[in-house]
Amino acid sequence: MSRIERNLKNQADELSALYQVSRSMTSSGNLDRVLELIARKIGQLMKADVSMIYLIEDTVANLKAAYGLRKGIGSIRRPIPLGILKEAVRAKKPVRIDGTRKSGGDPFCSLCKRYALHSTLVVPILERGKVLGLMTVCTKNRSAYTKEDEKELALFAGQAALAIENACLLEETKIHYLNTMKLLASVIDAKDTGTEDHSESVMRSAMGIARALGLSDKQKSVIKHASLLHDVGKIGIDISILRKPAPLTAKEWMQMKTHPKVGADILSKAGFLDELIPAILYHHVKYSGGGYPATKKRGNSIPLEARILSVADAYESMRSDRPYRKHLTKEEAIAELKRCSGTQFDPKVVKAFLKHLKG
Ligand SMILES: [Fe+2]
Repeated sequence: MSRIERNLKNQADELSALYQVSRSMTSSGNLDRVLELIARKIGQLMKADVSMIYLIEDTVANLKAAYGLRKGIGSIRRPIPLGILKEAVRAKKPVRIDGTRKSGGDPFCSLCKRYALHSTLVVPILERGKVLGLMTVCTKNRSAYTKEDEKELALFAGQAALAIENACLLEETKIHYLNTMKLLASVIDAKDTGTEDHSESVMRSAMGIARALGLSDKQKSVIKHASLLHDVGKIGIDISILRKPAPLTAKEWMQMKTHPKVGADILSKAGFLDELIPAILYHHVKYSGGGYPATKKRGNSIPLEARILSVADAYESMRSDRPYRKHLTKEEAIAELKRCSGTQFDPKVVKAFLKHLKG
């Protein structure tokens, strides 16, 4: 292959890699996945033995994505002091490091020494003049990187900067949306129970159950947000029904029973809260069958998050005054949970809740 042909092929490879990265950015919206893809693409394109992407926070670098390191990756998945990488952050320009160096405690130099990586190219990921992160490619070959490589890697650094900025914006939007929903839930609490913290109390009890059951962080996060938003569907229910100091008529019950479905519909419109929907939709379904909305689900086919929410919600409701009755004592509420364990409530969840209350 002639030099011109080789150059053309390199350019075509580079463009195709950039195109794939851009496509993934618009379709996934998941920062970790995009950075993993960029690390892989630059590793392949630059024929690197190792490629890594760090995000910078003050004086430390957090490894976000790596390609080419099969062993030992776990040991470097922790924040490291900038050390030798500091020069690229300070100068806001690519830096080439030739030869392995005595580490002198520098974690990046130790890594290069451990894997005999003789050439490193470090390129800052810049966004409006601020260094968000660093891209590094390393190879066992000596003096391997050129000015051309710096330019090539800088193109990908631009894509990474966009991906990071997009992810931050998305994260901010999500937080803003959740806060609005929480505010809405507290307004509904005030309308429904006369207090603004019913949903907060349900959340604390549900989280206690989740801890007692040893659930994962992911499940705990779903339970936390679903508890806070579980009655968001009551927004459409008349206050005269919510605060009625007497049993509801059949017609009023019909309206009341719509709130799990209305809540699920509201959350489905957000587009990123789908994992909360099963808990909210089924939080009034009984363990032995029945409740609302109408469903064939019973026992363990009811999502665990909904079974937890059901116990936490019932306990907190019993413990607070309602227009038609005074609150129950702690002992009375516990006795009621035990009485309905196996019929209305999942016995495993009731047991976990009692363990939490004792703890
Ligand atoms: Fe409810």
